[in-house]
Amino acid sequence: MWLKAIPTELSENEFRTVELNGQRILIGRASKGYFAVLDQCSHQKLALSEADGLPGRIHRDLLECPHHGAKFDPYTGQARGLPAVRPIKAFQVKEEDGFVWVYME
Ligand code: FES
Repeated sequence: MWLKAIPTELSENEFRTVELNGQRILIGRASKGYFAVLDQCSHQKLALSEADGLPGRIHRDLLECPHHGAKFDPYTGQARGLPAVRPIKAFQVKEEDGFVWVYME
């Protein structure tokens, strides 16, 4: 089902985290628009959004984990930089009525 997540007010390379369906989801915006991923790195299952106050970041269309620097394609979830080799969970998104919607099973 589609879940209403956040207003479409992020600038490029910004992100926010929200709780949806009991899961922490990172919603961000890169050059191809909005994306949504589970806020959990595939390396050591730590948060992608922050590490001791240091935020994760979106740089050159990749989402970078603040813990050990793994990089991911935020649209597909595929790992694009060590130490991660496995993908993160990416969700389908759409923009409608001024909001970002996330599709969750
Ligand atoms: S937990 Fe993300 S790179 Fe290690």
